Amino acid sequence: MHTIIEPFRIKAVEPIHFTTREQRELLLKEAHYNTFLLKSDDVLIDLLTDSGTSAMSSDQWAGIMRGDESYAGSPSFFRFEAVVKELTGMPFIIPTHQGRASEKILFSITGGKGKVFISNTLFDTTRANIEFSGAEGIDLVCEEGKHPTIPAPFKGNMDVEALERTIQEKGKEHIAMVIMTVTNNSGGGQPVSMGNIRSVKAICAQNGIPFYIDACRFAENAYFIKIREEEFADKSVESIAQEMFSYADGCTMSAKKDAFANIGGFLALHDKDLAQQCRNLLVITEGFPTYGGLAGRDLEAIAIGLREVLDEHYLQYRIRSMEYLTEKLIKAGVPVMQPAGGHAVYLDAKQFLDHIPVEQYPGQALVCALYITGGVRCVEIGSLMFGKYDDAGKLVPATLELVRLAIPRRVYTQSHIDYVAEVIIEVYKNRKAIPGIRIVEEAPLLRHFTAKMELIR
Ligand code: F0G
Repeated sequence: MHTIIEPFRIKAVEPIHFTTREQRELLLKEAHYNTFLLKSDDVLIDLLTDSGTSAMSSDQWAGIMRGDESYAGSPSFFRFEAVVKELTGMPFIIPTHQGRASEKILFSITGGKGKVFISNTLFDTTRANIEFSGAEGIDLVCEEGKHPTIPAPFKGNMDVEALERTIQEKGKEHIAMVIMTVTNNSGGGQPVSMGNIRSVKAICAQNGIPFYIDACRFAENAYFIKIREEEFADKSVESIAQEMFSYADGCTMSAKKDAFANIGGFLALHDKDLAQQCRNLLVITEGFPTYGGLAGRDLEAIAIGLREVLDEHYLQYRIRSMEYLTEKLIKAGVPVMQPAGGHAVYLDAKQFLDHIPVEQYPGQALVCALYITGGVRCVEIGSLMFGKYDDAGKLVPATLELVRLAIPRRVYTQSHIDYVAEVIIEVYKNRKAIPGIRIVEEAPLLRHFTAKMELIR
Protein backbone atom coordinates (compact mmCIF):
# COMPACT_ATOMS: atom_id res chain seq x y z
CA MET A 1 0.00 0.00 0.00
CA HIS A 2 1.22 3.51 -0.83
CA THR A 3 1.50 6.44 1.56
CA ILE A 4 -1.89 7.93 2.37
CA ILE A 5 -1.55 11.42 0.90
CA GLU A 6 -3.35 14.70 1.47
CA PRO A 7 -6.21 14.32 -1.05
CA PHE A 8 -5.94 17.92 -2.28
CA ARG A 9 -3.56 20.39 -3.88
CA ILE A 10 -2.94 23.81 -2.35
CA LYS A 11 -4.06 26.87 -4.32
CA ALA A 12 -3.86 29.67 -1.74
CA VAL A 13 -1.40 29.78 1.13
CA GLU A 14 -1.21 31.70 4.40
CA PRO A 15 2.20 32.56 5.84
CA ILE A 16 2.86 31.52 9.41
CA HIS A 17 4.81 33.67 11.83
CA PHE A 18 7.96 32.57 13.57
CA THR A 19 8.91 33.61 17.09
CA THR A 20 11.80 32.77 19.43
CA ARG A 21 11.49 30.94 22.72
CA GLU A 22 12.35 34.16 24.61
CA GLN A 23 9.59 36.04 22.79
CA ARG A 24 7.10 33.29 23.54
CA GLU A 25 7.95 33.28 27.24
CA LEU A 26 7.12 36.96 27.36
CA LEU A 27 4.01 36.68 25.16
CA LEU A 28 2.58 33.88 27.30
CA LYS A 29 3.23 35.82 30.49
CA GLU A 30 1.41 38.79 28.97
CA ALA A 31 -1.47 36.41 28.11
CA HIS A 32 -1.62 35.31 31.77
CA TYR A 33 -0.64 31.77 30.82
CA ASN A 34 -3.94 31.39 29.02
CA THR A 35 -3.40 30.43 25.36
CA PHE A 36 -6.90 31.72 24.50
CA LEU A 37 -5.53 35.20 25.28
CA LEU A 38 -2.62 34.95 22.83
CA LYS A 39 -2.71 36.71 19.48
CA SER A 40 -2.88 34.05 16.78
CA ASP A 41 -0.10 35.81 14.85
CA ASP A 42 2.16 34.79 17.72
CA VAL A 43 1.35 31.11 17.19
CA LEU A 44 3.39 28.92 14.85
CA ILE A 45 1.14 25.85 14.60
CA ASP A 46 -2.36 26.51 15.87
CA LEU A 47 -4.00 23.38 17.23
CA LEU A 48 -6.31 25.22 19.60
CA THR A 49 -9.33 23.93 17.75
CA ASP A 50 -10.57 22.21 14.62
CA SER A 51 -13.61 24.49 14.76
CA GLY A 52 -14.04 27.10 12.04
CA THR A 53 -10.40 26.61 11.05
CA SER A 54 -10.88 24.35 8.03
CA ALA A 55 -9.51 25.24 4.62
CA MET A 56 -12.47 25.57 2.29
CA SER A 57 -12.38 23.95 -1.13
CA SER A 58 -12.46 25.72 -4.48
CA ASP A 59 -16.05 24.53 -4.80
CA GLN A 60 -16.94 26.08 -1.47
CA TRP A 61 -15.34 29.38 -2.50
CA ALA A 62 -17.31 29.23 -5.73
CA GLY A 63 -20.41 28.66 -3.60
CA ILE A 64 -19.53 31.76 -1.59
CA MET A 65 -19.80 33.81 -4.78
CA ARG A 66 -23.12 32.17 -5.63
CA GLY A 67 -24.58 32.93 -2.20
CA ASP A 68 -27.87 34.80 -2.47
CA GLU A 69 -28.30 37.36 0.29
CA SER A 70 -32.05 37.82 0.15
CA TYR A 71 -33.53 38.36 3.59
CA ALA A 72 -36.26 35.79 3.03
CA GLY A 73 -36.57 32.72 0.81
CA SER A 74 -33.01 32.72 -0.57
CA PRO A 75 -32.15 29.85 -2.96
CA SER A 76 -29.01 29.35 -0.86
CA PHE A 77 -31.24 28.38 2.04
CA PHE A 78 -33.14 25.84 -0.04
CA ARG A 79 -29.90 24.26 -1.27
CA PHE A 80 -28.68 24.06 2.34
CA GLU A 81 -32.01 22.72 3.59
CA ALA A 82 -32.11 19.99 0.93
CA VAL A 83 -28.64 18.71 1.82
CA VAL A 84 -29.33 18.68 5.57
CA LYS A 85 -32.70 16.99 5.07
CA GLU A 86 -31.17 14.29 2.93
CA LEU A 87 -28.40 13.67 5.44
CA THR A 88 -30.48 13.70 8.63
CA GLY A 89 -33.85 12.56 7.31
CA MET A 90 -35.37 15.28 9.47
CA PRO A 91 -38.06 17.57 8.06
CA PHE A 92 -37.43 20.78 10.04
CA ILE A 93 -34.08 22.47 9.43
CA ILE A 94 -33.19 25.62 11.31
CA PRO A 95 -29.93 27.43 10.47
CA THR A 96 -28.00 29.08 13.31
CA HIS A 97 -24.77 31.04 13.45
CA GLN A 98 -22.96 28.18 15.18
CA GLY A 99 -23.55 25.05 17.24
CA ARG A 100 -24.05 26.73 20.59
CA ALA A 101 -26.82 28.92 19.18
CA SER A 102 -28.79 25.76 18.34
CA GLU A 103 -28.09 24.50 21.85
CA LYS A 104 -29.22 27.74 23.44
CA ILE A 105 -32.48 27.74 21.51
CA LEU A 106 -33.23 24.04 22.04
CA PHE A 107 -32.37 24.01 25.75
CA SER A 108 -34.23 27.25 26.47
CA ILE A 109 -37.36 25.35 25.45
CA THR A 110 -36.60 21.84 26.70
CA GLY A 111 -34.45 22.68 29.75
CA GLY A 112 -35.04 24.62 32.95
CA LYS A 113 -34.91 23.88 36.66
CA GLY A 114 -35.54 20.25 37.63
CA LYS A 115 -34.69 18.91 34.14
CA VAL A 116 -31.86 16.48 33.50
CA PHE A 117 -29.82 16.04 30.30
CA ILE A 118 -27.84 12.82 29.95
CA SER A 119 -24.92 12.42 27.56
CA ASN A 120 -21.87 10.29 26.87
CA THR A 121 -19.98 13.53 27.47
CA LEU A 122 -21.35 17.04 27.02
CA PHE A 123 -19.03 19.55 25.38
CA ASP A 124 -18.27 22.65 27.46
CA THR A 125 -20.67 25.05 25.69
CA THR A 126 -23.36 22.38 25.64
CA ARG A 127 -23.05 21.81 29.38
CA ALA A 128 -22.95 25.56 29.96
CA ASN A 129 -26.16 26.10 27.98
CA ILE A 130 -27.88 23.29 29.91
CA GLU A 131 -26.77 24.67 33.27
CA PHE A 132 -27.60 28.23 32.24
CA SER A 133 -31.22 27.09 31.67
CA GLY A 134 -31.24 25.82 35.27
CA ALA A 135 -31.07 22.14 34.28
CA GLU A 136 -28.52 19.50 35.20
CA GLY A 137 -26.11 17.75 32.80
CA ILE A 138 -24.88 14.22 33.49
CA ASP A 139 -22.04 12.48 31.62
CA LEU A 140 -22.15 8.68 31.43
CA VAL A 141 -19.24 7.67 29.22
CA CYS A 142 -18.43 3.94 29.21
CA GLU A 143 -15.69 2.53 31.44
CA GLU A 144 -13.16 2.20 28.56
CA GLY A 145 -13.57 5.90 27.90
CA LYS A 146 -12.18 6.73 31.34
CA HIS A 147 -8.76 5.20 30.70
CA PRO A 148 -6.96 7.34 28.15
CA THR A 149 -4.02 5.09 27.35
CA ILE A 150 -5.86 1.75 27.12
CA PRO A 151 -7.05 1.19 23.54
CA ALA A 152 -10.61 0.13 22.66
CA PRO A 153 -12.55 0.66 19.43
CA PHE A 154 -15.48 2.75 20.70
CA LYS A 155 -14.41 4.66 23.77
CA GLY A 156 -17.03 7.32 23.12
CA ASN A 157 -19.90 4.93 23.89
CA MET A 158 -22.41 5.65 26.60
CA ASP A 159 -22.56 3.32 29.61
CA VAL A 160 -25.94 1.73 28.95
CA GLU A 161 -26.40 0.28 32.45
CA ALA A 162 -25.57 3.62 34.03
CA LEU A 163 -28.12 5.22 31.71
CA GLU A 164 -30.87 2.87 32.90
CA ARG A 165 -29.87 3.43 36.52
CA THR A 166 -29.85 7.19 36.11
CA ILE A 167 -33.28 7.19 34.47
CA GLN A 168 -34.59 5.17 37.47
CA GLU A 169 -32.94 7.48 39.99
CA LYS A 170 -33.94 10.76 38.40
CA GLY A 171 -37.37 9.64 37.15
CA LYS A 172 -37.99 9.49 33.41
CA GLU A 173 -40.38 12.45 33.53
CA HIS A 174 -37.44 14.66 34.58
CA ILE A 175 -35.11 13.64 31.76
CA ALA A 176 -35.33 16.33 29.09
CA MET A 177 -33.32 14.32 26.57
CA VAL A 178 -30.36 12.04 26.03
CA ILE A 179 -27.66 13.63 23.86
CA MET A 180 -25.07 11.52 22.11
CA THR A 181 -21.96 13.50 21.18
CA VAL A 182 -20.36 12.04 18.04
CA THR A 183 -17.43 11.79 18.15
CA ASN A 184 -17.04 12.33 21.88
CA ASN A 185 -14.97 15.51 21.82
CA SER A 186 -14.34 16.00 25.54
CA GLY A 187 -13.71 12.28 25.92
CA GLY A 188 -10.87 12.27 23.40
CA GLY A 189 -12.59 12.49 20.02
CA GLN A 190 -13.47 8.83 20.46
CA PRO A 191 -16.24 7.33 18.33
CA VAL A 192 -19.61 5.93 19.34
CA SER A 193 -20.62 2.62 17.77
CA MET A 194 -23.86 2.09 15.90
CA GLY A 195 -24.55 -0.72 18.36
CA ASN A 196 -24.38 1.74 21.23
CA ILE A 197 -26.55 4.29 19.42
CA ARG A 198 -29.15 1.58 18.85
CA SER A 199 -29.11 0.45 22.50
CA VAL A 200 -29.38 3.97 23.83
CA LYS A 201 -32.18 4.76 21.41
CA ALA A 202 -34.07 1.63 22.53
CA ILE A 203 -33.84 2.68 26.19
CA CYS A 204 -34.97 6.20 25.33
CA ALA A 205 -37.91 4.85 23.33
CA GLN A 206 -38.98 2.53 26.20
CA ASN A 207 -38.99 5.47 28.57
CA GLY A 208 -40.44 8.07 26.24
CA ILE A 209 -37.27 10.18 26.38
CA PRO A 210 -36.20 12.15 23.29
CA PHE A 211 -32.85 11.11 21.78
CA TYR A 212 -30.61 13.77 20.24
CA ILE A 213 -27.27 13.78 18.49
CA ASP A 214 -24.63 16.47 18.90
CA ALA A 215 -23.50 15.96 15.35
CA CYS A 216 -20.41 18.22 14.93
CA ARG A 217 -18.16 15.34 13.85
CA PHE A 218 -20.73 12.93 12.43
CA ALA A 219 -18.66 12.03 9.35
CA GLU A 220 -15.55 11.14 11.34
CA ASN A 221 -17.75 9.01 13.61
CA ALA A 222 -19.39 7.31 10.63
CA TYR A 223 -15.99 6.49 9.16
CA PHE A 224 -14.88 4.88 12.43
CA ILE A 225 -18.05 2.78 12.37
CA LYS A 226 -17.18 1.68 8.84
CA ILE A 227 -13.66 0.57 9.73
CA ARG A 228 -14.31 -0.80 13.22
CA GLU A 229 -17.82 -2.28 13.26
CA GLU A 230 -17.91 -5.33 11.02
CA GLU A 231 -21.51 -5.00 9.92
CA PHE A 232 -20.65 -1.71 8.21
CA ALA A 233 -17.44 -2.59 6.37
CA ASP A 234 -19.13 -2.50 2.96
CA LYS A 235 -21.54 0.35 3.58
CA SER A 236 -20.92 3.89 2.36
CA VAL A 237 -20.07 6.49 5.00
CA GLU A 238 -23.08 8.46 3.82
CA SER A 239 -25.48 5.58 4.49
CA ILE A 240 -23.86 4.99 7.89
CA ALA A 241 -24.31 8.67 8.79
CA GLN A 242 -27.93 8.50 7.62
CA GLU A 243 -28.54 5.48 9.83
CA MET A 244 -27.02 7.28 12.84
CA PHE A 245 -29.39 10.19 12.30
CA SER A 246 -32.35 7.87 11.69
CA TYR A 247 -32.48 7.02 15.41
CA ALA A 248 -32.56 10.65 16.55
CA ASP A 249 -35.47 12.94 17.34
CA GLY A 250 -33.24 15.84 16.49
CA CYS A 251 -29.69 17.06 16.29
CA THR A 252 -27.60 20.13 16.97
CA MET A 253 -24.74 20.77 14.60
CA SER A 254 -21.75 23.04 14.46
CA ALA A 255 -20.93 23.38 10.76
CA LYS A 256 -17.52 24.69 11.84
CA LYS A 257 -16.31 21.10 12.15
CA ASP A 258 -17.35 18.40 9.69
CA ALA A 259 -19.02 20.82 7.26
CA PHE A 260 -15.66 22.57 6.59
CA ALA A 261 -17.28 25.97 7.13
CA ASN A 262 -15.69 28.88 8.94
CA ILE A 263 -18.98 29.69 10.66
CA GLY A 264 -22.44 28.19 10.91
CA GLY A 265 -24.61 25.51 12.41
CA PHE A 266 -28.11 24.14 12.48
CA LEU A 267 -30.81 22.46 14.44
CA ALA A 268 -32.68 19.62 12.74
CA LEU A 269 -35.90 18.28 14.23
CA HIS A 270 -38.73 15.84 13.67
CA ASP A 271 -41.25 17.53 15.95
CA LYS A 272 -43.24 20.24 14.19
CA ASP A 273 -44.42 22.05 17.33
CA LEU A 274 -40.96 22.09 18.83
CA ALA A 275 -39.57 23.38 15.52
CA GLN A 276 -42.12 26.19 15.60
CA GLN A 277 -41.13 27.15 19.13
CA CYS A 278 -37.46 27.08 18.14
CA ARG A 279 -38.13 29.30 15.13
CA ASN A 280 -39.94 31.77 17.38
CA LEU A 281 -36.77 32.09 19.47
CA LEU A 282 -34.61 32.06 16.36
CA VAL A 283 -36.26 35.19 15.04
CA ILE A 284 -35.46 37.08 18.22
CA THR A 285 -31.86 35.98 18.59
CA GLU A 286 -30.51 34.74 15.25
CA GLY A 287 -32.63 35.95 12.36
CA PHE A 288 -35.34 35.01 9.92
CA PRO A 289 -35.80 31.21 9.54
CA THR A 290 -34.25 31.07 6.06
CA TYR A 291 -30.90 32.48 7.19
CA GLY A 292 -30.78 32.21 11.01
CA GLY A 293 -27.69 34.27 11.78
CA LEU A 294 -25.82 33.33 8.62
CA ALA A 295 -25.19 34.96 5.28
CA GLY A 296 -26.52 33.21 2.19
CA ARG A 297 -22.90 32.50 1.20
CA ASP A 298 -22.33 30.64 4.47
CA LEU A 299 -25.32 28.42 3.77
CA GLU A 300 -23.78 27.56 0.38
CA ALA A 301 -20.40 26.73 1.95
CA ILE A 302 -22.08 24.44 4.49
CA ALA A 303 -24.21 22.68 1.89
CA ILE A 304 -21.13 21.94 -0.22
CA GLY A 305 -18.96 21.02 2.79
CA LEU A 306 -21.51 18.51 4.06
CA ARG A 307 -21.19 16.61 0.78
CA GLU A 308 -17.40 16.88 0.57
CA VAL A 309 -16.83 15.52 4.06
CA LEU A 310 -18.38 12.18 3.08
CA ASP A 311 -15.57 11.53 0.59
CA GLU A 312 -13.89 8.39 1.87
CA HIS A 313 -10.42 9.34 0.56
CA TYR A 314 -10.66 12.46 2.66
CA LEU A 315 -11.85 10.58 5.76
CA GLN A 316 -9.14 7.96 5.37
CA TYR A 317 -6.48 10.69 5.20
CA ARG A 318 -8.10 12.56 8.09
CA ILE A 319 -8.20 9.61 10.49
CA ARG A 320 -4.74 8.49 9.37
CA SER A 321 -3.26 11.92 10.23
CA MET A 322 -4.30 11.49 13.87
CA GLU A 323 -2.94 7.95 13.96
CA TYR A 324 0.36 9.09 12.42
CA LEU A 325 1.00 11.64 15.16
CA THR A 326 -0.23 9.26 17.87
CA GLU A 327 2.11 6.49 16.67
CA LYS A 328 5.12 8.80 16.76
CA LEU A 329 4.30 9.80 20.31
CA ILE A 330 3.72 6.22 21.49
CA LYS A 331 7.11 5.26 20.05
CA ALA A 332 8.74 7.98 22.14
CA GLY A 333 6.94 6.81 25.31
CA VAL A 334 4.67 9.86 25.54
CA PRO A 335 1.36 9.11 27.34
CA VAL A 336 -1.21 9.73 24.66
CA MET A 337 -4.88 8.81 24.26
CA GLN A 338 -5.24 5.49 22.46
CA PRO A 339 -6.43 4.83 19.95
CA ALA A 340 -6.17 8.18 18.14
CA GLY A 341 -9.35 10.27 18.09
CA GLY A 342 -11.04 11.58 14.97
CA HIS A 343 -10.11 15.25 15.05
CA ALA A 344 -7.38 15.55 17.63
CA VAL A 345 -4.58 13.93 19.53
CA TYR A 346 -4.96 14.02 23.30
CA LEU A 347 -2.08 13.87 25.73
CA ASP A 348 -2.70 12.40 29.17
CA ALA A 349 -1.37 15.25 31.28
CA LYS A 350 -1.85 13.42 34.58
CA GLN A 351 0.67 10.83 33.47
CA PHE A 352 2.82 13.21 31.41
CA LEU A 353 3.37 15.54 34.37
CA ASP A 354 2.92 13.14 37.26
CA HIS A 355 4.83 15.49 39.59
CA ILE A 356 2.06 18.14 39.30
CA PRO A 357 -1.07 17.55 41.46
CA VAL A 358 -4.48 18.15 39.85
CA GLU A 359 -4.96 21.26 42.01
CA GLN A 360 -2.07 22.75 40.02
CA TYR A 361 -3.64 21.98 36.65
CA PRO A 362 -1.13 19.66 34.93
CA GLY A 363 -3.04 20.02 31.64
CA GLN A 364 -2.64 23.77 31.54
CA ALA A 365 1.00 23.45 32.62
CA LEU A 366 1.57 21.23 29.60
CA VAL A 367 -0.29 23.60 27.26
CA CYS A 368 2.06 26.39 28.38
CA ALA A 369 5.18 24.24 27.92
CA LEU A 370 4.19 23.28 24.36
CA TYR A 371 3.71 26.91 23.41
CA ILE A 372 6.97 28.08 24.97
CA THR A 373 8.99 25.23 23.50
CA GLY A 374 7.63 25.22 19.95
CA GLY A 375 4.98 27.87 19.45
CA VAL A 376 2.34 25.12 19.28
CA ARG A 377 -1.02 26.20 20.67
CA CYS A 378 -3.42 23.63 22.07
CA VAL A 379 -6.07 23.45 24.75
CA GLU A 380 -6.53 21.90 28.19
CA ILE A 381 -9.54 19.61 28.55
CA GLY A 382 -9.36 18.84 32.22
CA SER A 383 -9.93 20.52 35.55
CA LEU A 384 -9.40 24.04 34.24
CA MET A 385 -12.22 23.49 31.73
CA PHE A 386 -14.49 21.23 33.78
CA GLY A 387 -13.38 21.51 37.42
CA LYS A 388 -15.90 22.71 39.99
CA TYR A 389 -15.56 23.85 43.61
CA ASP A 390 -17.32 22.15 46.51
CA ASP A 391 -19.02 24.18 49.27
CA ALA A 392 -15.72 24.48 51.10
CA GLY A 393 -14.11 25.97 47.98
CA LYS A 394 -12.03 22.87 47.28
CA LEU A 395 -11.48 21.88 43.66
CA VAL A 396 -13.56 18.93 42.45
CA PRO A 397 -11.35 17.84 39.57
CA ALA A 398 -12.48 16.56 36.17
CA THR A 399 -12.27 12.80 35.47
CA LEU A 400 -9.45 13.26 32.98
CA GLU A 401 -6.63 15.78 32.63
CA LEU A 402 -6.14 15.95 28.89
CA VAL A 403 -4.39 18.28 26.50
CA ARG A 404 -5.99 18.40 23.09
CA LEU A 405 -4.07 19.04 19.89
CA ALA A 406 -6.94 19.56 17.47
CA ILE A 407 -5.98 19.33 13.83
CA PRO A 408 -7.72 21.84 11.54
CA ARG A 409 -9.16 20.14 8.46
CA ARG A 410 -7.10 20.29 5.24
CA VAL A 411 -4.76 22.95 6.70
CA TYR A 412 -1.47 21.45 7.86
CA THR A 413 0.79 19.02 5.99
CA GLN A 414 2.74 16.02 7.22
CA SER A 415 5.88 18.07 7.92
CA HIS A 416 3.89 20.39 10.20
CA ILE A 417 2.74 17.30 12.07
CA ASP A 418 6.32 15.98 12.24
CA TYR A 419 7.35 19.28 13.80
CA VAL A 420 4.55 19.04 16.37
CA ALA A 421 5.70 15.53 17.32
CA GLU A 422 9.26 16.81 17.80
CA VAL A 423 8.07 19.59 20.09
CA ILE A 424 5.97 17.25 22.23
CA ILE A 425 8.82 14.77 22.54
CA GLU A 426 11.25 17.54 23.52
CA VAL A 427 8.83 18.75 26.21
CA TYR A 428 8.41 15.16 27.42
CA LYS A 429 12.19 14.76 27.82
CA ASN A 430 12.35 17.92 29.93
CA ARG A 431 9.05 17.39 31.76
CA LYS A 432 10.37 17.36 35.33
CA ALA A 433 11.27 21.07 35.07
CA ILE A 434 7.69 22.11 34.18
CA PRO A 435 5.94 24.02 36.98
CA GLY A 436 2.27 23.84 38.05
CA ILE A 437 -0.30 26.59 37.54
CA ARG A 438 -2.33 28.75 39.90
CA ILE A 439 -5.52 30.60 38.91
CA VAL A 440 -5.55 34.25 39.95
CA GLU A 441 -8.77 35.40 38.28
CA GLU A 442 -11.73 33.44 36.86
CA ALA A 443 -15.32 33.76 35.61
CA PRO A 444 -18.18 31.61 37.03
CA LEU A 445 -19.00 29.96 33.66
CA LEU A 446 -16.55 28.69 31.00
CA ARG A 447 -13.66 30.04 33.05
CA HIS A 448 -10.97 28.52 30.82
CA PHE A 449 -11.63 31.11 28.10
CA THR A 450 -10.70 34.10 30.23
CA ALA A 451 -8.96 32.86 33.40
CA LYS A 452 -5.76 34.62 34.38
CA MET A 453 -3.07 32.33 35.74
CA GLU A 454 0.51 32.25 36.93
CA LEU A 455 3.27 29.67 37.18
CA ILE A 456 4.00 28.19 40.62
CA ARG A 457 7.74 28.65 41.04
N1 F0G B 1 -20.64 20.34 20.55
C1 F0G B 1 -19.40 19.86 20.42
C2 F0G B 1 -19.14 18.40 20.58
C3 F0G B 1 -18.35 20.73 20.12
O1 F0G B 1 -17.12 20.25 19.98
C4 F0G B 1 -18.62 22.11 19.97
C5 F0G B 1 -17.56 23.06 19.70
C6 F0G B 1 -19.95 22.57 20.10
C7 F0G B 1 -20.92 21.63 20.39
C8 F0G B 1 -20.32 24.00 19.93
O2 F0G B 1 -20.23 24.41 18.60
O3 F0G B 1 -18.45 26.17 18.58
O4 F0G B 1 -20.13 26.01 16.75
O5 F0G B 1 -20.80 26.80 18.99
N2 F0G B 1 -16.36 22.77 19.82
C9 F0G B 1 -15.21 23.60 19.52
C10 F0G B 1 -13.97 22.89 19.94
C11 F0G B 1 -15.30 25.00 19.99
O6 F0G B 1 -12.91 23.53 19.97
O7 F0G B 1 -14.01 21.69 20.23
P1 F0G B 1 -19.89 25.94 18.22
